[in-house]
Amino acid sequence: MVGARIIGWGTALPQKVVSNADLSEMMETNDEWITERTGIKRRHIGGSTATLSIESAQRAITMSGIDPSSIDGVVLSTTTPDRTVPATSATVQNALGLRCGAFDLNAACSGFVYAYVVAHGLISIGAKRLLVIGTDTLSRITDWSDRGTAILFADGSGACVIDAVSDGGQLLGWDLDADGSLEHLLYADIGGYIHMDGKEVFRRAVRIMVDSAHKSLAKAGLGIDDVALCVPHQANVRIIDAACRQLGIPMERTAVVLQETGNTSSASIPLALFDAADKGRISDGDIVLMVGFGAGMTAASAVIEWRKP
Ligand code: UT7
Repeated sequence: MVGARIIGWGTALPQKVVSNADLSEMMETNDEWITERTGIKRRHIGGSTATLSIESAQRAITMSGIDPSSIDGVVLSTTTPDRTVPATSATVQNALGLRCGAFDLNAACSGFVYAYVVAHGLISIGAKRLLVIGTDTLSRITDWSDRGTAILFADGSGACVIDAVSDGGQLLGWDLDADGSLEHLLYADIGGYIHMDGKEVFRRAVRIMVDSAHKSLAKAGLGIDDVALCVPHQANVRIIDAACRQLGIPMERTAVVLQETGNTSSASIPLALFDAADKGRISDGDIVLMVGFGAGMTAASAVIEWRKP
């Protein structure tokens, strides 16, 4: 059976760091409130979706040790493309000197898992090597006078190269979901800012993450005790805590980077996953559960068997 596995990865964060103290000079908020209610201490702001994607993708290509001309597709998950057309993935493809298919995908904060699963679909019909990227520059669509959203959102990117393999690959189970009837809870019109009913998103987020994780695990034929590391969407540490408690995964087996990154939407799961990998928190053969939720309201999860590149 044809499948795929990650052979290299990279991440990128803008240089400019904005602390909670910095935000408290711009709006009626404070470090104590933000830390207690969200877990976020700092976030990185700046760059464009293309520049951050190019940086993380270049690192992933270098780590993979591959000839870039062997890449036959770029899948870029983003809710913040640099232009309406062309897709930002086209800019990234050209900057990296690639000649292959390239498209953007928007499934909000679930986007990286969507892109990873879609890339497996392409592998199953003949693609050999793909670049999968999750990047967002949410600071550009954030209303910096709205303390309900400005304390959460930030910029970043994570990328990986995945290779076709003939032994079934590392993706053991997946789930993609959406409920468009809830679009009023979290949206940004073209050219406009993010609007969010934070309380309602919070309430539903926990439920849909747990539900999606259960579906992926069932497809993989695994239980929660098999999971060595859970990599949830980095939105709010209270959401992560509540979802992991309901799933029965202790925080020691959960990847959390949001204290340093804020909510970077498409980049949040790859930033957390590759931080854990870089720190040696994942061993060969470990079962990793990625699970996200976002506007739309989308949910996505994937159970993978980690393979050391
Ligand atoms: O990728 C998906 C994206 N979205 C999310 O994941 C968001 C999910 N929701 C959340 O993370 C939380 O709902 C928030 C962090 C947005 C808000 O936290 P909360 O615990 O739901 O706070 P709240 O909106 O119920 O506000 C509680 C109090 C209110 O004051 P009163 O009415 O109790 O006097 C707010 O006015 O805190 C006040 N408040 C703030 N105070 C200081 C709201 N925002 C702030 C703030 N700083 N930034």
